[in-house]
Amino acid sequence: MTRQAIVAANWKMNGDSALVDAMVSGMADVELASNVDVVICPSSPYLSALSQKINSAKLNEAINVGSQNVNEHDSGAFTGEISTAMLKDLNINYVIVGHSERRSIYKETSTQVAKKVQAALNAGLTPILCIGESEAERATEQTETVLSAQLQPVIDEVGIEKFSGVVIAYEPVWAIGTGKTASSAMAQETHQFIRQFLAQQNELVAAKVPLLYGGSVNAANCEELFAQADIDGGLIGGASLKAEQFKVICSAAKGK
Ligand code: 13P
Repeated sequence: MTRQAIVAANWKMNGDSALVDAMVSGMADVELASNVDVVICPSSPYLSALSQKINSAKLNEAINVGSQNVNEHDSGAFTGEISTAMLKDLNINYVIVGHSERRSIYKETSTQVAKKVQAALNAGLTPILCIGESEAERATEQTETVLSAQLQPVIDEVGIEKFSGVVIAYEPVWAIGTGKTASSAMAQETHQFIRQFLAQQNELVAAKVPLLYGGSVNAANCEELFAQADIDGGLIGGASLKAEQFKVICSAAKGK
């Protein structure tokens, strides 16, 4: 086994204290294969409580807390933002960077995303770097061009060697929250492209980087998706808001 599998929950702007409690008690008996990490990313007001409650409930050590975002600057006058140091202070060790909603709604550019990945790595956080094409881009056969253009600025910023500490989540924008999952064959084909793109720059690193699929993953389709050669887990939105469903998805992941 060379590659870690990861199942990450992205609660987006959903959830409350009751969901924190439900998730902590729900995950108490989750069965995880070896080489699987679970990362739960609540909205920032709940990071501290979730982290503390996971510790005090003595949950499986493979269960981590992640942030949905981080700022690229160390500190200062950036109202509403979260720094890497704050996340480290709360024992948070993963952070989602460049989610398509941040790119489209908050106009984050790939250059800014690259700086965030660099800041996360500098602080010892594992970035979950999100990339993905829109429906129109897939329809006009631009998927590979778009994914390359999202990845290359990050590689240029941090260096390909540092990607051994990065997780990539491929989330086709048209599959997010729509119930339209990419077929497992289509997802595999795109994941294989991403791994080959990395391999052209460093084969050893490419073989190690966990590639997660995201977009309408649920308890019914996760097994087939995770069985694909280059799919190492998932980034889960809607189905991560129900502990019972999320648990099934976590148990379907296996390191490869
Ligand atoms: P859904 O699982 O709700 O489609 O969301 C996917 C996603 O955007 C996770 O980051």
